[in-house]
Amino acid sequence: MEITITEHYDEMSKVSARLIAQEIHRKHDIVLGLATGDTPVGTYQELVRIHKEEGLDFSKVKSFNLDEYLGLAPVHKNSYNYFMWENLFKHVNINPENVYIPQGNIKDPEQFCVWYEEQIKKAGGIDLQVLGIGRDGHIGFNEPGSSFASRTRVKALFKQTIEDNARFFDKEEDVPRFAITMGVGTIMEAKKILLIANGKNKADVCAQFIEGPVTSQITATSLQLHNYANVILDNEAASKLKRIEYYNWVRDNKHLVQKEVGR
Ligand code: GLP
Repeated sequence: MEITITEHYDEMSKVSARLIAQEIHRKHDIVLGLATGDTPVGTYQELVRIHKEEGLDFSKVKSFNLDEYLGLAPVHKNSYNYFMWENLFKHVNINPENVYIPQGNIKDPEQFCVWYEEQIKKAGGIDLQVLGIGRDGHIGFNEPGSSFASRTRVKALFKQTIEDNARFFDKEEDVPRFAITMGVGTIMEAKKILLIANGKNKADVCAQFIEGPVTSQITATSLQLHNYANVILDNEAASKLKRIEYYNWVRDNKHLVQKEVGR
């Protein structure tokens, strides 16, 4: 895992958007895996700016969203579908036919999950998966105990997740109790992973998933087993890490690798 600690939320958003933009430049028909929540809002805003001011082209980009609340129609203002269109898709030139988001009000979720996995496969797999992290360590909605081999499926939400996400709803009772989510196994098949996190309330879980033991109780620890995972944090989310100096040294001295091999 490569750990980049930034000064604040804005810098975290800019660094992560730049990384995504570079990947889109490298492969115009890239397959992105995208996340929702407060964390990526700044990253998406920055991507919109890069699209508008620097011409970043989304016309061939395909995207698959991580998850969606079960029971919410795509037009519901708390649905992740609504979130994605409001925060990113409607501001860039992505082809709506290339946008895949789990459908919360689908009649047969089980069959839908199989279909969703097939579409990811058909697209050639996810090139870059963007992730946030829940306070219980979840990626997508892979709550504690989710198997590292899990695929897209319906998952029951953890109490802490319901409480955390209640801020988006009128009252806690309105938060759906289930969601459709890509599995940990689905996420781990992405060629590259970018996890972003900010704020004091993510400091404990960031220390646990970066420096703690691998466990399905904190599904983000699965990233320790991925061969290309980038983690970009703001100062607050990084504040409980033990090896901050080392991560910063690596970030600032990458150029030395070239010198070393030239010896
Ligand atoms: C939800 C989403 C996750 C997201 C997490 C953190 O539970 N399913 O994909 O990473 O919330 O959200 P926030 O960025 O708002 O802290």
